[in-house]
Amino acid sequence: VTVKIIVATRSTEKSRVWCSAFEPVWPEAHFIAWADEQGAVDADYAIVWGPPAELFQRELQLKAVFNLGSGVDALMKLPALPDNLPIVRLEDGGMVEQMVEYIVHGLVRASREFTAYEASQRAGHWNPLPPIRRDEWPVGVMGMGTIGAVVAQRIASLGYSVAGWSRSPHSIPGVRNYSGPGQFSAFLARTRALVNLLPLTPATENILNRDTLGQLHPDAYLINVARGRHLVEADLLDLLDSGRLKGALLDVFRTEPLPAGHPFWQHPKITVTPHISAITLARNTAEQIVNKIHLMRRGQPVTGLIDRAAGY
Ligand SMILES: NC(=O)c1ccc[n+]([C@@H]2O[C@H](COP(=O)([O-])OP(=O)(O)OC[C@H]3O[C@@H](n4cnc5c(N)ncnc54)[C@H](OP(=O)(O)O)[C@@H]3O)[C@@H](O)[C@H]2O)c1
Repeated sequence: VTVKIIVATRSTEKSRVWCSAFEPVWPEAHFIAWADEQGAVDADYAIVWGPPAELFQRELQLKAVFNLGSGVDALMKLPALPDNLPIVRLEDGGMVEQMVEYIVHGLVRASREFTAYEASQRAGHWNPLPPIRRDEWPVGVMGMGTIGAVVAQRIASLGYSVAGWSRSPHSIPGVRNYSGPGQFSAFLARTRALVNLLPLTPATENILNRDTLGQLHPDAYLINVARGRHLVEADLLDLLDSGRLKGALLDVFRTEPLPAGHPFWQHPKITVTPHISAITLARNTAEQIVNKIHLMRRGQPVTGLIDRAAGY
């Protein structure tokens, strides 16, 4: 019997594009793009990114759902999502290398004063600033998962002092580990460049706020590449405007696209990018998900299963 897989993303057109990425990887399977007007297709598996809530009311035979990204926060909010349906997230999918580059860019932008030099150029000023030492830039990475652990090691290999913070303890060569709420303040207090790579869960929503960002080194720099809802935007603006923080590189926002007229657009201390720090690569993603479906069908364990209680 042919395996039926429904692909439900933000539009039928985008779902069709994803189907054509999967079809060459598994030609024997039947990939069906979600369309609002179509009836139930009795799919065995679903592959999703921001699917319509009706997916889980219409498709009642699903054995598992595969998310086309690392973060499942939007999926977990769907009320019709059955409690016992296994959810599998994307692991890396070509994103780790992109994230390393993006974060190294942000760190060097801060530590080597590129924002100030860009302003000097626009003003026509030849204005060398005092050299900056790496030991003045301890880096803290929130989240030691698939992405955070690699990012932390790469930054450490450049000669920065790096710490990681996670829910459970991790031992990563060259990276000092802090874990749990009890060690969060100590982690913040040793950090000047803060990188957020946490999943968005009830425990991490609004975690970047006046109180936590205020515990960083003076003149600290924030790089948020995880989710917009981690950050209390008004608190960041206050800390930047009072001079408590040096600047921020932001890839994710509470509302995306970032609304016209939002204060972040023109802020001299903020660099904005449109959620591009790491993009899922279609071929890599299709191969990863198809491999996992084969494993499941053979009754073998797969990695990347979401812990429904923890929310990631
Ligand atoms: N901007 C983009 O384009 C983009 C692209 C990809 C991913 N992302 C974001 O990056 C996030 C991380 O991705 P990933 O693949 O690295 O995730 P992951 O492998 O699930 O890792 C998550 C890490 O966060 C830690 N964590 C979770 N809840 C915590 C809490 N309450 N307190 C402290 N630590 C906590 C986990 O701790 P344990 O190790 O103890 O479990 C783990 O180390 C995604 O969820 C997504 O939101 C953004």
